Amino acid sequence: MTSIDLIKRRILVVGANGMLGQRVIEFYSVLNDVELLATSVEDKFVFEGLEYVQSDISNRTEIKKVIKDFCPDFIINAAAFTNVDLSETERELAWKINVKGAEYLSESARVLDSHLIHISTDYVFDGKNGPYSENDIPNPLGYYARTKLASENVLKISGIKYTILRTNVLYGTAKYSRPDFVKWVVDSLRAKKTIRIVDDQINNPTFIDDLVQGINKTVELRKEGIYNIGGNEFLSRFDFTIMIADFFNLDKSLISKIKTEALNQPARRPLKSGLITIKAQSELGYKPHTIIQTLELMKNELGL
Ligand SMILES: NC(=O)c1ccc[n+]([C@@H]2O[C@H](COP(=O)([O-])OP(=O)(O)OC[C@H]3O[C@@H](n4cnc5c(N)ncnc54)[C@H](OP(=O)(O)O)[C@@H]3O)[C@@H](O)[C@H]2O)c1
Repeated sequence: MTSIDLIKRRILVVGANGMLGQRVIEFYSVLNDVELLATSVEDKFVFEGLEYVQSDISNRTEIKKVIKDFCPDFIINAAAFTNVDLSETERELAWKINVKGAEYLSESARVLDSHLIHISTDYVFDGKNGPYSENDIPNPLGYYARTKLASENVLKISGIKYTILRTNVLYGTAKYSRPDFVKWVVDSLRAKKTIRIVDDQINNPTFIDDLVQGINKTVELRKEGIYNIGGNEFLSRFDFTIMIADFFNLDKSLISKIKTEALNQPARRPLKSGLITIKAQSELGYKPHTIIQTLELMKNELGL
């Protein structure tokens, strides 16, 4: 090896077709010191020309083979059963993907000494007393939330190098997935549809690229443990919607306030929630954008 040869970091992205996964792929695919492999459950990959293997995280043999063959330095787990309400009735499936999946990744990471970066959620908290720091005591309200907390516990007892990044209300540019909250608001208001938005759920919405930044800081610094990754501003979903409407100059009279309870959703939601990011800012150098900056970025990239 000559001195100009690069030692490439081998990064496996699990759940690569998802809203977060595809943005992680876009970020790492342009770095020439990274050898990247994408995997997800679908037979097709949204990016042409990049290395992709189909695998089901809840199939122990399948996912372990993918990991053993690639031998990653880092495994980024962006795969999950993310339908919060459906998790109440599809309990077995949600458990298999969110908990057993994390267990199978951990088993392989232990054998290969890979560092597992796992994405979790503020839903591990009950929303009585947010925003939350990394040291607050979880108390999940619904089944999805319970599977996410259980997945964290899997990592904690695994003996591997792991990082749990908790995040909330992801939004941003993910061209090949379902519309994120911002695009949904913009599309609905432009189509003159009325939308009902809860004013009693408080969070700090997280721009997907800020979470990608948090993931990459973790990779660069090889930091382990739990970190909160969220946005700069804490506000209700209704106020977030008003900011979006103001920024894009849309008709705010189409937005009406509603209480979470009136939606009668199968899964309970944490209300006073959100994640304090001081630890990530001081230990990882994490620096989130402001909401206005992110809307500007989305406007330019998506042509909104
Ligand atoms: N979105 C949010 O607001 C939010 C908030 C807090 C935390 N999080 C966490 O952030 C992470 C990423 O979320 P996201 O919003 O990007 O979710 P997403 O868009 O639903 O992406 C999840 C990906 O995982 C794939 N997947 C599902 N089952 C799988 C399996 N058995 N094997 C392999 N892949 C499988 C999904 O495929 P299919 O689509 O085909 O099922 C999808 O491509 C998750 O851990 C989630 O819990 C998200």
